[in-house]
Amino acid sequence: MPKAPIVEMRDIEKSFHGVKALNGLSMDLYPGEVHCLVGENGAGKSTLIKVLTGAHLPNRGTIIVDGVEYPHMTAALSKKLGIGVVYQENLLVPWMSVVENIFVGQEMSRLGVMRHRDEVRRAQELLEKLGLKLKLNQMVANMSVSDQQFLKIIKAISMEPRILIMDEPTSMFNATDAGKVLDLVRRISKQGVSVIYISHFLKEVKQIADRITVIRDGKSIRTYDNRGGDVELDSVVSDMVGRSATMFYQKEQYEIGGTAFEVKDLRVTPDGEPVSFDVRRGEILGVAGMVGAGRTEIANAIFGVRRKYGGRILYEGKELQIKSPRDSVRHRIAYITEDRQKLGLNLNAPVVENLTEVGMQTTIPGFFIRVRNLIPLVRGIIDGLKIKLTSPMMAARNLSGGNQQKVVLGKWLFSNSDIFLFDEPTRGIDVNSKAEFYRVMTELAKEGKTIIMISSDMPELISISDRVMVIAKGRIVKILEKDEISENSIIRYALEVHTA
Ligand SMILES: Nc1ncnc2c1ncn2[C@@H]1O[C@H](COP(=O)(O)OP(=O)(O)OP(=O)(O)O)[C@@H](O)[C@H]1O
Ligand SMILES: [Mg+2]
Repeated sequence: MPKAPIVEMRDIEKSFHGVKALNGLSMDLYPGEVHCLVGENGAGKSTLIKVLTGAHLPNRGTIIVDGVEYPHMTAALSKKLGIGVVYQENLLVPWMSVVENIFVGQEMSRLGVMRHRDEVRRAQELLEKLGLKLKLNQMVANMSVSDQQFLKIIKAISMEPRILIMDEPTSMFNATDAGKVLDLVRRISKQGVSVIYISHFLKEVKQIADRITVIRDGKSIRTYDNRGGDVELDSVVSDMVGRSATMFYQKEQYEIGGTAFEVKDLRVTPDGEPVSFDVRRGEILGVAGMVGAGRTEIANAIFGVRRKYGGRILYEGKELQIKSPRDSVRHRIAYITEDRQKLGLNLNAPVVENLTEVGMQTTIPGFFIRVRNLIPLVRGIIDGLKIKLTSPMMAARNLSGGNQQKVVLGKWLFSNSDIFLFDEPTRGIDVNSKAEFYRVMTELAKEGKTIIMISSDMPELISISDRVMVIAKGRIVKILEKDEISENSIIRYALEVHTA
């Protein structure tokens, strides 16, 4: 690295209630480089970013930008220094439009008058430049999670940062959309913008990183030079978990039962084509498709989040009347949604309350229980999924992004359901914890539960599914049997370019 670093962080320490999230961490960033940060859930990646952007004040350590030391970084100062950030959390204003969200906090004013038309024009330019399509006047609350994610990225880029930080920017995306983000990162780093990029997709990291730093337990463990794109990922994973490990999960083989769950002629829209499929006892049915193919809509309709326009749902030959999510829970269906921050968690409530919320409803209705007394019941889940927390009484809000997701998974696992609908269950979850989750899911299947798993993660679909149902434009294009499942076949059917 020839030039001087644009950012240096030295010996940063940050504690929350006496627990060290960052423990003497140092890193630097050179002009025009893409520096990727990787590490397990709760390692300290997002906290480090928040220290750099002035969202958290560190207890100790030095921040240097352009050779100048900033003992008291603030959000306003970091913005002024040209630091732009796409946070892991969704901080968009749901009741505002796309344009309003891009420019909130940076309204273009001339003589104090807001220039809505200028803003629309600038927003259009940005979208074109990035090759994206979004309806500018649409309200954010009505947008898909992936479009919201694109909006977060556009908002950060609109400020023309010199240093761009992206925390898990592609965890909401399928391969095509993730590719757009990677192209964007390459493009802006060529223009001289320096990028800090956090991701659990190590293959993605390998593609774009100039350097990769592994963070573990609030410390920087090792920095790899990846300018040749030849870093050994197994070695990176081992550094992440602190022992030797591999990236691949090997599913156990076991006997699958007869048909258990049936969806017959389900209509998701008034004039849509009916959808029919069944899932066997002990089976994991993968559901593949491009974002927007209609997979989530089908899951929403089954669970009762969204209206059905006809069709029947049966379990063990018996028809289930499902008009609302509450009906589903009564019929022992669990639904782990893709938009976890909005639908899955009560962020202000303690972790233990979140974990027991559904389970308690189904087992002891109408009883008022002190949450603290429930802690022993959830210990197994916390340990099993390796949820990193200081106490089960801590608010879910204070968990790291990945650990929040594990709580959503955990609460449904605790619910003792028969049918599990997972929508992108392992987004934002580190490789090691993914394997833990697959293990838990396989256990459920072995007990005879029925599992439907929507996923855009190819290795996951291929290694975990017994069959893969491919959806395009709201229709089932193909159901692939175990020996037909491959990345190639899934993509061909999802894009409807198959011949035969
Ligand atoms: N406001 C807070 N209060 C208490 N603890 C916190 C707070 N913010 C973060 N932590 C803790 O600090 C640790 C590091 O969290 P951080 O969000 O930096 O992890 P991360 O590496 O970004 O993980 P992930 O991959 O899951 O996003 C975690 O144990 C988390 O629970
Ligand atoms: Mg994080």
